[in-house]
Amino acid sequence: MSFKVALNFEDGVTRVIECNDDETVLDAAYRHHVKLPMDCSDGVCGTCKGSCKQGQYDLGDEYVDEALTDDEAADGLILTCQMLPQSDVVVSIPAPSSMCASGPQSISSTITNVQALSETTIELNVELSEALDFLPGQYINLGFPDSQDTRAYSFSSRPGSQAASFLIRNVPNGKMSTYLSEQAKAGDVLSVTGPLGSFYLRAVERPVLMLAGGTGLAPILSMLESLRATPTSQPVYLLYGVTNVSDLVKLEALQELADELDNFSYATVVVNPDSQHDKLGFVTDHMESVPFALANADAYLCGPPPMVDAVRQYFKDAGTPPHSFHYEKFNPSTPKEEAA
Ligand SMILES: Cc1cc2nc3c(=O)[nH]c(=O)nc-3n(C[C@H](O)[C@H](O)[C@H](O)COP(=O)(O)OP(=O)(O)OC[C@H]3O[C@@H](n4cnc5c(N)ncnc54)[C@H](O)[C@@H]3O)c2cc1C
Ligand code: FES
Repeated sequence: MSFKVALNFEDGVTRVIECNDDETVLDAAYRHHVKLPMDCSDGVCGTCKGSCKQGQYDLGDEYVDEALTDDEAADGLILTCQMLPQSDVVVSIPAPSSMCASGPQSISSTITNVQALSETTIELNVELSEALDFLPGQYINLGFPDSQDTRAYSFSSRPGSQAASFLIRNVPNGKMSTYLSEQAKAGDVLSVTGPLGSFYLRAVERPVLMLAGGTGLAPILSMLESLRATPTSQPVYLLYGVTNVSDLVKLEALQELADELDNFSYATVVVNPDSQHDKLGFVTDHMESVPFALANADAYLCGPPPMVDAVRQYFKDAGTPPHSFHYEKFNPSTPKEEAA
């Protein structure tokens, strides 16, 4: 038996494919040469998330809560790498059709600079072997020299340039963190696969609220850099949260953007209550500083999983969710229990 799956892309294009019994939507799409957004294909990363509001389906049972929460599943969200249709279905894919026809590219990159911006954050600059046509907010999988392992990192630089940069949290004993902080040097060659992900800046048609936690600032910087190239008349406001004052990085770059972009402003928030800082607590403690109504805004949120979950809960409890809400969780590649 097979079912028809209508893949509804966000640019309005619909492509209908046949999905066999016991075949996931992702596998069926690939069989039809449609490259849906994906990364792990194992129910771990959440990259393949879409929504299904028409038809019967089995969600699959091999995914983790970080990739799809019960609340999201109850709202009709699905993971295409897990979903098994039980009837004809319509699946909305939060990506333009053009992105799904081309799929990720595999290229190489050469380190031009690697430096610690703070105790917790490393900046990596590379020269890509060719410019990647990514959307601001997207990420790549970065390889190590002489290893098949990769880690996901969001561009902090603007699209369309061969010079690319990343903000990387220095995780104690992390494999990439250790490589970057102890061994990496200019000239090292690292593989790059991408671009990937459905967290990217949509057409700016209303006020934009950006929320960044730690190195979650990276994709937000890329979005702001692209707004520098195509300025908007809509207000754009960023709340950037960290644990300690010493974790704040790229403040000069943010100030430059604020000086240059008429409608952009930002504030920083520090969790540690003993800090000498104007705004203490979590970003959700300072939502009153947002200079426009949330209900009419598009919100973009990126950071570590607990922060993303806290903000999602805040929007839920507030009863006035933003007009649209896009988020990226920096889920670890290696689950803690496996790494132990
Ligand atoms: C879509 C996506 C985009 C991402 N973009 C970025 C980015 O732009 N910048 C960035 O810094 N990270 C980003 N990450 C996270 C990144 O891919 C790595 O997981 C992270 O850098 C750790 O890699 P590592 O090799 O140093 O540690 P690993 O060797 O993978 O992990 C070592 C141990 O540390 C734990 N661990 C891993 N990450 C954390 C953490 N953040 N906090 C606490 N413990 C942790 C692991 O569970 C494991 O026990 C992204 C993740 C995803 C899914
Ligand atoms: S591709 Fe990672 S959860 Fe589906």
